[in-house]
Amino acid sequence: HYSSRGRWPNLLLPPGSMGLPIIGETLLFMCGKKQFFESRFKQHGEVYKTHILGSPIILMNENNLVTVFWPESVRHLLGKGSLTNSVGELHRTKRMALQKAFSHTAMSDYISIMQKVVQTCIKSWCSQEIVFGYQECKNMSFALAVEALLGFSLTPKEQRNLLDVYRVFENNLFSFPRQYPGFGFTKGMEARKTLLANIKECLELKMHKMNSNEGSAQHGFKDAMSRLLDNQGEHSVHLPDLMDLCLELLFAGHVTTASAATSILIYLNQHSEVVTKVQAELEEHGLAQSQELDLTLANLGHLRYVNGVVKEVLRLSPPVGAGYRTVLKSFTLNNYHIPAGWTIAYSIRETQQTSNIFEDTNKFNPDRWIDHKYPDEKFHFLPFGGGPRLCLGKEFAMMFLRVFVVEIVRSCSWELVEGSVKMSYFPVPHPKDGLPLRFSERV
Ligand code: HEM
Repeated sequence: HYSSRGRWPNLLLPPGSMGLPIIGETLLFMCGKKQFFESRFKQHGEVYKTHILGSPIILMNENNLVTVFWPESVRHLLGKGSLTNSVGELHRTKRMALQKAFSHTAMSDYISIMQKVVQTCIKSWCSQEIVFGYQECKNMSFALAVEALLGFSLTPKEQRNLLDVYRVFENNLFSFPRQYPGFGFTKGMEARKTLLANIKECLELKMHKMNSNEGSAQHGFKDAMSRLLDNQGEHSVHLPDLMDLCLELLFAGHVTTASAATSILIYLNQHSEVVTKVQAELEEHGLAQSQELDLTLANLGHLRYVNGVVKEVLRLSPPVGAGYRTVLKSFTLNNYHIPAGWTIAYSIRETQQTSNIFEDTNKFNPDRWIDHKYPDEKFHFLPFGGGPRLCLGKEFAMMFLRVFVVEIVRSCSWELVEGSVKMSYFPVPHPKDGLPLRFSERV
């Protein structure tokens, strides 16, 4: 409905194709091909338009020019209390409350759980003939989220059952948002109900323990939810909102971290010279041999090359390819007219891969993060987004991925069962065949 000249008579809408009526280019986008953005970027430059997820999209200060955008199904499935569905002051207050769960003290507490979860997974991988890397990384990041973020103490069977319900929820996040019998969205809403019932039971148990002074820190570890409940006085969040926030943490932290861990397995498999350098760094800091040796914020902080490996994986294979916003007020960008009501996406993948600050940009080179200091890095390297919606779990995810690199390099080796890896990029980068691998313990 927009005139291509809008309120700025001399400015045009950005170039690009709007695809088929109604669905636009959604199907091409959801095919998960990396080329979707790449080819349009090559053809049209930095700002272009397309039509996906039911909205015209232009690729390119929250609450002023733009506001957060997610498809309707995601908004319903995540619930009213989530950060995703909160804007302005409400969003800010909820973030402040959640941030308590990611403080420095909290982080040093989470390391032991991260190490335990990774070591348990590696042990199991080494005992199996063939392991499907992507599925196993998803199981691993789910186990981590359930233990460290939600603080559920589940038997392996209970955890598997919960993961089955969670899968139904996740598989239907992007679905036609109508609750008719048999529709994906209806299944997703049912799974949401079951997940919330589990979360509620767990939160009430924690609250009961706190009220009767049986704090959850008695075993020396406090999960994210307990930390939130501890701080209820300061930035109070009501129980239904808290339940939605727990579900959101599970969603936001699970598949993103699993994708990154899978990419680490792929890149390290392709670059034995990088594995050798990680080993050398671990040796230098006395961390190469003992799998029992506890990792701490301090000793992880010394591992600059390991940090470079994680950053390089997130640069070349960012789990979140883009962030979406709705335009509140028309504005101009690179001399194009961006109309109110449209949806814009900032593309993380293209920004990182076309930025001129990274020499030899397609090369997997962790050393670049040690050799160079990149001024204005945050405008060129943004796997966790930026601004008021910067990823809340950034430090948590970075720390987990560093623990993962240390543990896999010092305790095992792995090889591909198939000769090559073919990737899909929707909803996150992942190997099409699930990545069959053979693990063996390092002796
Ligand atoms: C938001 C990436 C892991 C919690 C975001 C955004 C990105 C991102 C790009 C911003 C989206 C936007 O601009 O609309 C990642 C990546 C991860 C990761 C690449 C792993 C490698 C995690 C983990 C957690 C988490 C482990 C929880 C512990 C969140 C939350 C938000 C968010 C709650 C919403 C923030 C808000 O709306 O204020 N993440 N994330 N993420 N992330 Fe992450």
